[in-house]
Amino acid sequence: MGNEWITTEEKKAVYKTIYARRDVRSLFTPEPIPSETLARILSAAHHAGSVGYMQPWNFILVEDKALRRKVKEAFLRERNEAAVLFDDEKRIQYLSFKLEGILEAPTNLIVTSESSRFGPQVIGRRSMPETDIYSTCCAIQNLWLAARAENIGVGWVSILKREELHAIFQIPLPIKIVAYLCLGFVTHFPAVPDLERAGWGKRLPLDQLVFFDAWKGPPSEPRQDLAAFLKNGKSLP
Ligand SMILES: Cc1cc2nc3c(=O)[nH]c(=O)nc-3n(C[C@H](O)[C@H](O)[C@H](O)COP(=O)(O)O)c2cc1C
Repeated sequence: MGNEWITTEEKKAVYKTIYARRDVRSLFTPEPIPSETLARILSAAHHAGSVGYMQPWNFILVEDKALRRKVKEAFLRERNEAAVLFDDEKRIQYLSFKLEGILEAPTNLIVTSESSRFGPQVIGRRSMPETDIYSTCCAIQNLWLAARAENIGVGWVSILKREELHAIFQIPLPIKIVAYLCLGFVTHFPAVPDLERAGWGKRLPLDQLVFFDAWKGPPSEPRQDLAAFLKNGKSLP
């Protein structure tokens, strides 16, 4: 038997979860995530699509405080190094942002990608070898959404030197570190991304990102209505 059809209520819940997902850095509570819940979230990640079904991911659960302190120190060093890239005004703003919850979130998670899993003959990887990383990102997005459905916040920390993570967690060099995530229950989920609230960026208009039949192609006659729908922003069923 195949999968069941999705009911209207379930469809609404999926869209609600997608729109209510947030990157969370500062709202974590210390309440531990029950193992059963973690298992559901990790299983959701593991059910992502992957190139040639290679499932290149691994998940390293990091809860040890001393290890997390090392990661926090690595983050602070990297954040300060990255700050020099911004002009004076932006640098002050950048340094004022809370961009991780490494110590506040009770659970951290490293997501890796093993590009040699199942050898060189993975379907679809000859032309696009980087699809192992794409697959791992699909798993991360599944995890992010499943966590949101459990009312658990996730914050992605990329302001880290990979070499330092390899050393701290004894990850062999051929294994690619794709994400360092902070997970935990939160006091609330903001309606708007932090960087948007801070005036740093805003969501681009979707109608300017969708093209028709060619790069930058305008809407075809039968798709004028789609272009109009896209202008309206968030569409809920
Ligand atoms: C690949 C990736 C790396 C990210 N790295 C960081 C990071 O280092 N620190 C941080 O605070 N947010 C990080 N973010 C979160 C983004 O800033 C956030 O997704 C974006 O501002 C939109 O907000 P939202 O996720 O709440 O919708 C990252 C997100 C992604 C997808």
